[in-house]
Amino acid sequence: MPKEPSGLIIMGFVAAVALLGILAIAFLYRQRHFRYLRERQQLTLSYEQELLKTRLEIQEQTFRNISQEIHDNIGQILSLARLNVATMDISEPDLLPQKIADSEKLISKALQDLRSLSHGLSMDFVADLGLARAIGHELEMIRKSGNYETSLLTEGVPYSLDKQKELIIYRIMQESLNNIIKHAAAQKIIIYLLYRPEEFKLTITDNGKGFDLTPLNDKSSFGLGIPNMHNRAQLIGAGFLISSTLEKGTSVTITVPIGHATI
Ligand SMILES: Nc1ncnc2c1ncn2[C@@H]1O[C@H](COP(=O)(O)OP(=O)(O)OP(=O)(O)O)[C@@H](O)[C@H]1O
Ligand SMILES: [Mg+2]
Repeated sequence: MPKEPSGLIIMGFVAAVALLGILAIAFLYRQRHFRYLRERQQLTLSYEQELLKTRLEIQEQTFRNISQEIHDNIGQILSLARLNVATMDISEPDLLPQKIADSEKLISKALQDLRSLSHGLSMDFVADLGLARAIGHELEMIRKSGNYETSLLTEGVPYSLDKQKELIIYRIMQESLNNIIKHAAAQKIIIYLLYRPEEFKLTITDNGKGFDLTPLNDKSSFGLGIPNMHNRAQLIGAGFLISSTLEKGTSVTITVPIGHATI
């Protein structure tokens, strides 16, 4: 213990400065911690908003597909069945068995299509069916439109991903199919699912006219679809890659690391 009063004053001063320092550090730490919590909260909020938007977009697209399917496919089949029934003539009994058999076949087909359509009507059909079956369902609708040959190829042992991730991947896939239908003038669409223990990969390929990717860097000259797909892939920690060759086609690949934590 210093005996001089000036020594005591110096010690008291040093202690006060040290205390102030500790208080300042604690204050800064708290500030930073609050900022971190706030940022995290905002991230979670924007993730949830994006998820909600994804859900609404899927529903919107599904309703569009369903109304088209009812109009183009089921409606046509039932019209044909009605025509068959309307042209049944009792005065020509020889033709009746064939017409009855044809009508029955048409009505069965309409029923079968309606049943498959109802899978897509559930609000959470991606969660209900699982990603692979939901994709198969979407491709089947496109194939039935009669304009495309479609295939769904799978490699590895299928597993489920986080439901929210599956929803976002599904929406990216839908956007990519929209682009094929809108721009590619393709005849073939292939979706390839690769299940590896460390990653899941989804590739959507068309054999259409392809496009020049360089202007993609200048976002102003393009639509919202591709930047949206890119952002959403980032949101779930997935890689997103487009490759395209003029006159050959385009492929879009999403790579999801397995075990990657979302916010
Ligand atoms: N599969 C494809 N085949 C040929 N061109 C494509 C394909 N996918 C995208 N493109 C080209 O890339 C452009 C950008 O696509 P993007 O989805 O960003 O916008 P968009 O489809 O034009 O508009 P939006 O998606 O906002 O309705 C398209 O305008 C088209 O020229
Ligand atoms: Mg688009």
